[in-house]
Amino acid sequence: MKLFISGGRGRLGSKIVDYLKDRYTVLYPGRKELDLTFFQKVMAYFIEEKPDIIIHTAAFTNVDKCEEDRDRAYRENILATLYLKNAAEYLNIPLVYFSTDYVFDGLKTTPYREYDKTVPVNYYGTTKLAGEEIVKTLKDFVILRVSLLFGSGNDFITYVLKSILSDKEITVFTDHIGSPTNILDIAKALDIILNNFLSGIYHLVNRGAFSYIDIVNICESILKKKALIRFSERNGAKRPYYTPLSTELIENVFGITMKNSGEAIEDYISSYIKD
Ligand SMILES: NC(=O)c1ccc[n+]([C@@H]2O[C@H](COP(=O)([O-])OP(=O)(O)OC[C@H]3O[C@@H](n4cnc5c(N)ncnc54)[C@H](OP(=O)(O)O)[C@@H]3O)[C@@H](O)[C@H]2O)c1
Repeated sequence: MKLFISGGRGRLGSKIVDYLKDRYTVLYPGRKELDLTFFQKVMAYFIEEKPDIIIHTAAFTNVDKCEEDRDRAYRENILATLYLKNAAEYLNIPLVYFSTDYVFDGLKTTPYREYDKTVPVNYYGTTKLAGEEIVKTLKDFVILRVSLLFGSGNDFITYVLKSILSDKEITVFTDHIGSPTNILDIAKALDIILNNFLSGIYHLVNRGAFSYIDIVNICESILKKKALIRFSERNGAKRPYYTPLSTELIENVFGITMKNSGEAIEDYISSYIKD
């Protein structure tokens, strides 16, 4: 099977490429080779390469900058998704779209399910939700909502680990509770989904509800060292407060079991310390 992975040089995409590249033919051009905001170039690329499936991880992911530069967020999150959807339709191939817990307003007190009402509270979430609406018009699509990713080396948990180990202060925001998720667990689940494709929206996260301070506490207890913590208010875009996601549907449909976030964080820290 020939996979096209957008954003294959990004945090999530590069780990998915690493995990799948030995068993699939993987195309993952960077922005310089294929800027997804140019429709004619996108179509020409797909007509030439004819992949069997599109895995769309690329996005403008800086939540604060999406608020400031709405034109860019519109082009990179909405138009790029529309063009990939057009390519999928033209070649009659499925598309897997990575979305976010930020499509919800965070006002619930129990984990969000797939068909709970979507009400984004910032422009990043608005554009990602628009992407979902575009992708949902395809016959064969999977939307995977993920949250608080770690395991790329450029994420909150790695920042906490590095800071504790080098006695640096950690800035901790108090405005969000989510489901921290190890990218490796996403790559493993994606592999299963590719081989048992069933259209739909699914929540793909490690289980549980964790604040940033909970994450710091887990890191402290595994490293057996206290962190230097500074609580801070955020100045940028508003975050939804409570967005843990329920994994009941994806586990049921694809027969997978997602680990608890605490366990997933422990796994990552063990491999981080070993390296
Ligand atoms: N990270 C998280 O915690 C998190 C949480 C929830 C959902 N998600 C979703 O998961 C996906 C992956 O996130 P991530 O954290 O891996 O993002 P990331 O590290 O920012 O990577 C995004 C990639 O997309 C590429 N890209 C953006 N616009 C492009 C364009 N017009 N043409 C070609 N490439 C383009 C970027 O290239 P450049 O480097 O050249 O800009 C980058 O390589 C996204 O869809 C995001 O919405 C992430």
